[in-house]
Amino acid sequence: MLKLTFLGHACFLLEDNAHKVVIDPFLSGNPVAKTSPGDLKADFILLTHGHGDHLGDAIEIAKKNDATIISNFELAYFCSQKGVKKTAGLHIGGGSSFPFGSLKLTIAHHGSTLGNELAYGGNPVGFIVRMGGKTVYHSGDTGLFLDMKLIGELDKIDVALLPIGGYFTMDVNDAARAVDFLRPRKVVPMHYSTFDLIKADPNDFARKTKHYGAECIILKPGESHTLE
Ligand code: NI
Ligand code: MN
Repeated sequence: MLKLTFLGHACFLLEDNAHKVVIDPFLSGNPVAKTSPGDLKADFILLTHGHGDHLGDAIEIAKKNDATIISNFELAYFCSQKGVKKTAGLHIGGGSSFPFGSLKLTIAHHGSTLGNELAYGGNPVGFIVRMGGKTVYHSGDTGLFLDMKLIGELDKIDVALLPIGGYFTMDVNDAARAVDFLRPRKVVPMHYSTFDLIKADPNDFARKTKHYGAECIILKPGESHTLE
């Protein structure tokens, strides 16, 4: 069993019976988020890249919960320099086991600075997470890339979390093509309509993904979906 809760933008909470893993906790300053960082409990925090709308409140949440931040090497090192005690800096193509299951880092075509500093944050990544007997792919911020076919071949993806907002990432049409490449059982759109620049219609995305056999689950911030 794996419970997936959308916390707005690219932020998701993954829970099995024993562990809480949060991805890209951008909550304060997020106009659509309903959860405050002080209320969020997490054992592990996964960061796809250092942009403010992904790093978000990760450092504060990690310190408060004694949580481990998992990211690329450069961003994990940055977090440790900011006083986070437990970090794991992996890199693209690599992975590891953790108490919640395991994960692997994938490529993502995007940029990555360190928080609000215009400093090199390593390469942005996506995550394949195995937890609660399920496989989740969070692509991070990315444009469409053909290697998504390989990602879908190597792992049977139960749910893919994909940006659809355009401007900084894939739009609805490119994200629908990503579903064609990845062939997940289910797909959840993210990274849209948080701001005017990335307005998109998730129902249009749901229509476009239908031929690829994926069930599109549209979650409003705060809503959950359980994978049995
Ligand atoms: Ni970004
Ligand atoms: Mn972003």
